[in-house]
Amino acid sequence: MKKILVTGGAGFIGSHTCVELLNQGYDLVVVDNLLHSNPKSLKVIEDITGKSLRFYQADIRDSKSLKAIFEAEKIDAVIHFAGLKVVNESSSLPLEYYDNNVSGTVTLLQVMKAFGCKNLIFSSSASVYGNEAPVPVSEDSPRSVMTPYGRTKLIVEDILTDLFSSDDDWNIVMLRYFNPVGAHHSGNLGEDPKGKPNNLMPYVTQVALGKLTKVYVFGGNYDTKDGTGVRDYIHVVDLARGHVAAIQKLKDQSGLSVYNLGTGKGSSVLELIQEMEQVIGTPIPYEIVDRRPGDIAVSYADVTKVQKELGWRAEYDLKRMCQDAWRWQTQHPHGFAE
Ligand code: NAD
Ligand code: UD1
Repeated sequence: MKKILVTGGAGFIGSHTCVELLNQGYDLVVVDNLLHSNPKSLKVIEDITGKSLRFYQADIRDSKSLKAIFEAEKIDAVIHFAGLKVVNESSSLPLEYYDNNVSGTVTLLQVMKAFGCKNLIFSSSASVYGNEAPVPVSEDSPRSVMTPYGRTKLIVEDILTDLFSSDDDWNIVMLRYFNPVGAHHSGNLGEDPKGKPNNLMPYVTQVALGKLTKVYVFGGNYDTKDGTGVRDYIHVVDLARGHVAAIQKLKDQSGLSVYNLGTGKGSSVLELIQEMEQVIGTPIPYEIVDRRPGDIAVSYADVTKVQKELGWRAEYDLKRMCQDAWRWQTQHPHGFAE
């Protein structure tokens, strides 16, 4: 298993995964429509690793383009990141989310099947656990979703399960990410949200930089250690290495599996802000406001299964996540756009 097709490889998690894969000697082909990314990330991947990859600007819903790529390259496995991921946007644009995340995946699977490539790693999300799963959340917790975005992940998980039931030649690993944050240690590769960030870490770094005035903490009366929401923040480089570990699972031809990718540790919103204050050495203004609709109090992963079966565990702590996110933000205050 030498040549990997990475869909969405120019994006946040995909680009960091490309770095780790190139460092491990894999040949990479990236397909991305650049809707939510900048091709400069691909150049940075090559600069960091000193290795090259092949890039096709194409949409995964376009089967003609995908077929041309599979014809030109002998793909052994696909890591499928491409998709839309803004949870609240998905409630106002459900058809776009189903089209991109569900139809796009079906098109990709049809082309993979046609070319006899049956090895896949899929980016799922902890959002498939909904709001009732007891913590730490294990992979066999019941799934229930609250948003169209979460439902696209749940539907694709079900499609992959049906596909495997129909043909057990497929090797599929579904990875449920918790809260990916941080950036590459070089400070040259990181999360580059368009407009005002929706997620906590980029919001905090933009406040720290003075681009935004203060952090609005969504809810201070949850049943948690300090009343604010608790999440399992995971360094994006650790997450990327989880994909390298998952490729070994594909090589073992072990069928269909699902794993959590998290640290197993929960941190509150205030703890994250305090950690960032330590890193930058100045206070970060914040205000506690109403809860954000749809948010849950606590979510962190049970990582027993992934540690045992993939031999993978997250290495970096919250301090390192803040240090690396801050380095990226200060070195590239306008992201890749400058
Ligand atoms: P991202 O937006 O940075 O990257 C996604 C990439 O896919 C972008 O480069 C975008 O241009 C590309 N893309 C989107 N639709 C496409 C299409 N139809 N054809 C080709 N390319 C397309 O997002 P990310 O944070 O790197 O997330 C990657 C994957 O992980 C997504 O599937 C997301 O749902 C999932 N995920 C992300 C998080 C998170 O917090 N970042 C958490 C859980 C799961
Ligand atoms: C959400 C999604 C998850 C998705 C992730 C990245 C759910 C249940 N979770 O995670 O699937 O992968 O986004 O797109 O749908 N917060 C603030 N102020 C802010 C921003 C966030 O207080 O300005 C708080 C939130 O209330 C939460 C924590 O910070 O407690 C983390 O929020 P966020 O970074 O948006 O991620 P999630 O909502 O956990």
